[in-house]
Amino acid sequence: MTRQTPPEDPDRLLRAAARRLDRRRFLTGTSAVAALAFSFGLPGDQSRIGQEDEEPRPADELPPETLTEDPFTLGVASGDPLPDAVVLWTRLAPRPLEPGSGMPATGSYRVTWEIARDEGFRHLQRRGSAYAHAEFNHAVHVDARGLGAGREYWYRFTAGRWRSPVARTRTLPARDADPARMRLALVSCQNYADGYYTLLRHAAAQDVEALFHVGDYIYENPVSAVGGHRRYTDRTLPAQHNREPRTLADYRLRYSLHKSDPDLQAAHHAHPWFVTWDDHEVHNDYSGTTESLVRRAAAYRAYWENQPLRLPQPDASGLTLYRRVHYGRLAQFDILDTRQYRDPQAGSQWRQSLGAEARDPRRTLMGATQERWFADGLRNSDARWNVVPQQVVLSRCAFGTRGSAPVLSTDAWDGYPAARERFLTAVDQAGGNRNLVLLTGDAHVAHAFDVKRDFDDPGSRTVGAEFVCSSITTERDGPAHPADWAGLRALNPHMKFYDGRRGYTVITLDRTATRADFHAIDRVTRPDGRITPAGSFVTEAGNPGVHPA
Ligand SMILES: [Fe+2]
Repeated sequence: MTRQTPPEDPDRLLRAAARRLDRRRFLTGTSAVAALAFSFGLPGDQSRIGQEDEEPRPADELPPETLTEDPFTLGVASGDPLPDAVVLWTRLAPRPLEPGSGMPATGSYRVTWEIARDEGFRHLQRRGSAYAHAEFNHAVHVDARGLGAGREYWYRFTAGRWRSPVARTRTLPARDADPARMRLALVSCQNYADGYYTLLRHAAAQDVEALFHVGDYIYENPVSAVGGHRRYTDRTLPAQHNREPRTLADYRLRYSLHKSDPDLQAAHHAHPWFVTWDDHEVHNDYSGTTESLVRRAAAYRAYWENQPLRLPQPDASGLTLYRRVHYGRLAQFDILDTRQYRDPQAGSQWRQSLGAEARDPRRTLMGATQERWFADGLRNSDARWNVVPQQVVLSRCAFGTRGSAPVLSTDAWDGYPAARERFLTAVDQAGGNRNLVLLTGDAHVAHAFDVKRDFDDPGSRTVGAEFVCSSITTERDGPAHPADWAGLRALNPHMKFYDGRRGYTVITLDRTATRADFHAIDRVTRPDGRITPAGSFVTEAGNPGVHPA
């Protein structure tokens, strides 16, 4: 079964694909990145997920007995549930922290999957097989269809003589159902080197229907032999983690490192996830044109390989992450991608008062196509709640003043005022009260905001609510309030809640209100951090804005 030809280095293939694209003068925008990310090193058979339970047998299939070590060290995951389907994910990686994950550089392994109505798999619902291809770092994506709506399921994989952990998932209610309630966990920003994922373990135990991760699933900073601020004394991380990832091999290793964490696995094993990315999946504060095409393509490909996304097997047509999800008629979720299509940040500093460049009306955060998609979707929505899980803070957040001008983040919506104005105009033009709720990450601080129609005018209308979930680990242990707490409040009267500690948020939607329960942890630099309620806020249907619960 061993091939005589030497294995192709995926990063060499990626660079060669970039040279071919360059010759065709195709390097014109974001579509080129996705095209590049998925135009090389594809498995020969070109089968797609979601079409059949049994994937055609590839010519390079390897015998199962050559899997001599447990390949399920990264656990399993599920995501993007529908009323009748859910995506199941795993990746074969017997030695995940080594380059290549301890797998052969070529060839495919057959993996069987099962989904059942009970944890003991006595009531099997569906079963099938898929192939883990070397070209995708032995990741497996299965779109398990034919499931019942609004139901709990358990799933597992088998490869050779090895069986994966059993994990729980859940389908969405039927599109025309009118569920009384939905609960979800909102998380973001899990810098591995900044501490332990105790909050994810806590989120795993929550009674929620899904977990929304709104970006910074990985970070690109070097991770030392002791795991940075985790300060391991019982293990030594290999030296290749102690540098910034730039190649596909590097990004794959970075996912292995994060996904080897047992608390992260617990959160995947307990709930289906909806993921979207922010900047650190590539590089801090990157924007469309600031990173090399090849690096971004490598990061995008590794992201797809490692997330339970319902996207077709990549074929160079793109990696569209923004998507719409219906929780019956209770809520419409418009999950945004404010990173891939944005214009570069205006100005030289992360926080500054905005100049004329930032106010250029042509500047975009979502890109024109996604802006239209959002406006159309909101106008046509029949949902009680219109929920927008997305990356960076939409509400004005002034950190100080320079002269009379507020100092703002150039990376958040504050740095793209024309784009924010178009977003809020779309909300206006959708008509009526749309019960807009933004679910946001990135800030590494928990917030509740009244979303104002015009943030320059404190007296202007409130048009929605924004809840920001803080970070799982990023920025480590910290105080609940900044030194100039009174000053921050005075600058931002629409900011109803601030907690600077690490945390996450449980969101409960029902027919009358949406409630945010913020959880905070005293420290993440040790594995025994204590988690306590940090605050609870509600926004009522028909009455935009937030107030204490
Ligand atoms: Fe972050």
